[in-house]
Amino acid sequence: MASPDLNRNCKTMSTTSSHLHNFSAGPCILPQSVLQQASDAVRELDGSGLSLIEMSHRSKAFVDVMEEARALVRSELNLPDRYEVLFLQGGASLGFLTTALNFTPTDGSMDYAVTGTWAKKALKEAKKMGTAQALTSSEDSNFDRIPALPSSSSASAVHITTNNTIFGTQYAGDPTIDKPLVADMSSDIFSRPIDIERYSCIYAGAQKNMGPAGTVLYIYDKEQAGKTGRDIPSYLDLTVHADKDSMFNTPPVFAVYTSMLTLRWLKSEGGVIEMQKRNAAKADCIYSEIDRNPLFSGFADNGSRSVMNATFTAANDAHTPLFLEACQTAGINGLKGHRSIGGFRASMYNALPLTSVKVLADVMKEFERTHG
Ligand SMILES: Cc1ncc(COP(=O)(O)O)c(C=O)c1O
Repeated sequence: MASPDLNRNCKTMSTTSSHLHNFSAGPCILPQSVLQQASDAVRELDGSGLSLIEMSHRSKAFVDVMEEARALVRSELNLPDRYEVLFLQGGASLGFLTTALNFTPTDGSMDYAVTGTWAKKALKEAKKMGTAQALTSSEDSNFDRIPALPSSSSASAVHITTNNTIFGTQYAGDPTIDKPLVADMSSDIFSRPIDIERYSCIYAGAQKNMGPAGTVLYIYDKEQAGKTGRDIPSYLDLTVHADKDSMFNTPPVFAVYTSMLTLRWLKSEGGVIEMQKRNAAKADCIYSEIDRNPLFSGFADNGSRSVMNATFTAANDAHTPLFLEACQTAGINGLKGHRSIGGFRASMYNALPLTSVKVLADVMKEFERTHG
């Protein structure tokens, strides 16, 4: 069944439409229905007589929103009861430090799989707080691949970045290792089902598959938290937030509400299983054109390619600005690659319809015809 969002986005193929084909890496495309409901709620939340952003976060109306958001994360990812769900602030960047503090014992250390810029930043933060080191790295080849994760580590816990937004690489599945595994899933959470039992903690900034910037999701195994022997500052202590049902302080109400709407949308569209199918179709569409078209080449090693962010370059450097111009003319937004690798990056998060990816592939074909 075609969703109203897909139908709406199919109509965006004309460049005269106000809505572009949005390949932005994040913040990024959200379902049109979510944007509509979120903007309605800023005017008035569900006939309450108040705007979402002018009511108390302790009001029943907002407590219900927070509870529904947490419950949807739980149901959509099929979380066992022992996993806690929190919506906090500080983005994934504060998560680098928060996870290190909550999962490295005072006399222990954390191992890091260094697979890109964000993983490197996570390791840097952890080193400021205690002992942390690289377990594996693909920096030598400019992070063009996911190096194999050993099955064993001598550290107390291991940190991975499941999807490397900048370089367009992704773990093919949920890795196994003999230590508590902490994962930054900022750019691929809710894109596929996950084997939650493999992870002790997952964190993800909202602004890709979940909602607007402003909140960060934490999911962690309660049996493994609060055991570091550290006196963790209150805001950085996950157990403090869990004791207060994610309401230790004023939550980012708009970001949580809009994330809740996106999670409702996810559920109504068929959940993570359906997202996985759609995302695979989009990735197939773009990677087969990258591989076929002699004017372009993929950046990431084939076995490490990301389903969320496809990175590629022009065979002829002079073509880079010309192709970006062609994309702009076709109503394609956000295709410029990150400065660390240049070229192009097509971010294809959950809300991006296949039709937008087909438009991009068509522009690549036309570019070949006119510049090949
Ligand atoms: C994988 C990953 N981790 C961390 C971050 C940083 O997130 P934030 O800006 O929420 O701190 C990003 C941002 O794009 C990301 O893609």
